[in-house]
Formats: sequence, structure tokens, C-alpha cells
Amino acid sequence: MQAGASDFITKPWTNQQIVQSVRTSLGLAAAGQIGKQSEPPSRDDLNGRYDLDGIVGRDPGLLRILELATRVAPTDASVLVTGESGTGKEAIAEAIHRNSERRSGPFVKVNLGGISASLFESEMFGHTKGAFTDAHQSRRGRFEVANGGTILLDEIGDLDTSSQVKLLRVLQDRTYEVLGSSQPRTVDVRVISATNRNLTEMVALGQFREDLLYRINLITVHVPALRERPDDIPALAGHFLELASKAYGKVGMSIEAAAFRWLRGRPWPGNIRELKNVVERALLVARGDVVTVADFAEHAGAGAAAGRSHALPDVGSMTIDEIERAMIIKSLRHHDGNVSRVADSLGLSRAALYRRFEKYEIEP
Ligand SMILES: Nc1ncnc2c1ncn2[C@@H]1O[C@H](COP(=O)(O)OP(=O)(O)OP(=O)(O)O)[C@@H](O)[C@H]1O
Ligand SMILES: [Mg+2]
Repeated sequence: MQAGASDFITKPWTNQQIVQSVRTSLGLAAAGQIGKQSEPPSRDDLNGRYDLDGIVGRDPGLLRILELATRVAPTDASVLVTGESGTGKEAIAEAIHRNSERRSGPFVKVNLGGISASLFESEMFGHTKGAFTDAHQSRRGRFEVANGGTILLDEIGDLDTSSQVKLLRVLQDRTYEVLGSSQPRTVDVRVISATNRNLTEMVALGQFREDLLYRINLITVHVPALRERPDDIPALAGHFLELASKAYGKVGMSIEAAAFRWLRGRPWPGNIRELKNVVERALLVARGDVVTVADFAEHAGAGAAAGRSHALPDVGSMTIDEIERAMIIKSLRHHDGNVSRVADSLGLSRAALYRRFEKYEIEP
């Protein structure tokens, strides 16, 4: 693989798997993917050829990855989407699916960071009724649900080592066993993975299997951080303002020019997701039709250090348990239900967080 082979087949194989592998290699060759790095096409050109709805931006770096993503979309090549948190990895993965032959099939997103090792198999492969003590009903696994379509293995860098082995097998020969049944099943899926972690580094540290990495990263798409493409910030802010004005019924709003400049100059550690939240909040607090620097700055700047003690509720108004519960829910919303991140941000282990979900009857 290091010398440039695009795939490898392990014994015993299934014919379907070989056919898929050959087809993918031919498709990639036809797409001119191998070793080409040219000028990016224009945004209008891409829009004319592909469905890129909901993806805003004209930065050359972004156009280059959109071009790569759409070019390999029609093949079944496995794609690894990397990039910092909130850069739009999921949006890119969805665009690949929408521009592939599988577009009318399902697009199934699985957050691997939120699946514990003990539940991995039943979640991914399903189980029959009675397969284990709590299996009162049979359950379809995520791979079965994704059959004929695309599966997005999100946060793949958070997968524990025992689950990595189980995942490798199904990616290798497209077969798996439903828990409680020894009948192997075949699945026809396109695999897209996403992570904000450096998998190559994790391989070197022995935290991620090298063979699994080879399996998932035939094509790697690295989504640039927002601070690397500041020219896209005004368009993105305008886009989110429009979405939020519709959602909150505050139409006819605009952003003042100085505010666009202010937004452009910020570092955006939380990338596009953070920008989206900030625009939404500013729209809600704005008094007139025009969102001003003050509307943005009120929350963004002061919030972190100074506002912290003021933000706590009045003494006697909440118990520790109530605060804990509220904080967990707030964090879940902030991280879109990503349990690993929620646990990190609250300084808890995943297990400790799951215990609190139970205690406070929170559905993550
Ligand atoms: N180019 C874009 N144009 C418009 N909206 C975008 C773009 N990229 C991402 N978004 C929006 O920004 C938000 C975050 O994007 P997304 O969930 O794809 O990021 P992510 O990289 O998967 O984040 P995380 O690492 O936190 O999972 C979403 O609401 C998405 O719709
Ligand atoms: Mg994501």
C-alpha cells in the first residue's frame, strides 16, 4: 500500500468484493484522480455540474476539495474526510453521497464516538431477538439500514481497538454476522469516514490499526479550517443569517459592513459551526434590522472569562443536580449529541457521562 497500490484483498474473498474493488479502481482512473493537482475549477463551473446545495464558499482550497469530492463521488472509493471540528466534514460527506450513483439510496450517519465497545456489534450489525439478555426485540444494524447507499462512519478516530477489528472485517469483505445468528450477510455500501484526529499519528502511537486506515482512506479529503479561508466568512455569515431569520421569523435582517470585517478577523477555533452559532445569537439579540458589531461582540468577546461568574443562576434558585443536568443538556446541544465531546467538555469519562444520562433521564 505504501508503494501506491490502491487496494488489497484478503482471503477468503467474496466475488462481489473483488468486482467492487476493480470497479472502484477503474472509476478512479477514469476520474483522473491518481496524482493530479491542477488549478481549481470555478465555483460556477462546479455548480453547473454538481449538486452542491448548502455548501457555501469560493476559497480556492475549498474549491479544490469540492472538485476532488465530486470527481470521486461516482466511484465506490472509500473516502476519509479530515479537518478540525466544525469545518464541514459531514456536509462534504453528504455532498459525496448526493453526487454519487447511490443518491437515491440511504445515507446513514453513525457516530462511532458515541458507541461503547460492548454495544458496537449490536448497533452496527444488529441482533436477533434473544441474542443476549436485554435483546427483547430484534434490531436492524446500521450496515443493514445503509444497504444500497452510503454509510458515514463519523468520529472514526474515537473507536476503541476491539471495535476497530470488528469494523475492519466488514470493510474488508463486506460481510458481517448479526448477533445471535451465525449466517453471514453481505452488504453493498459506500464507506465515508470522518475524524478531526490525526489517524497517521494514531497509527504510529499504536492507537489506530494501520490496516483499517488503509481500508478507509483510499481518497483523503482535508477540509480547511475557517481561519485559513477568511474570504468565505462574509458569505457564510450572510447564509447563516438568512437561515436563522427564516427559522426565527425575523425577516429582512442584514449585517453591517463593519460587522463583516469584525467577523473576518476572528480566529474561529470552532470553525463554521461556531460562526453559525454566533450569527444566530447576534440575530436574536439585535434590536433593529441591522446586526451590528456590538450585537456580535456582546457574546463572543466578553463571554468567556468575565461573564463566567455572572452567568451562574442566583443562589438558592437551583440545586447542584439541576445545574449538572442543565449543563449536560447544554453541552449535548452544543456538540450535536456527540457523546465523546460532551464528556471531554465536562471533564467526565464516557462511562461517567452515561451514568448521568441514566440518573437524569437524559436521552443523548
Ligand atoms: N461550506 C459550508 N457552507 C454552509 N454551511 C456549512 C458549510 N460547511 C459546514 N456547514 C454547516 O456548519 C455546521 C457544521 O458542519 P459539519 O457538521 O459538517 O462539521 P463537522 O466538520 O462534521 O463538525 P464536527 O467535527 O464537530 O462533527 C453544520 O450546520 C453545516 O451545515
Ligand atoms: Mg461531524
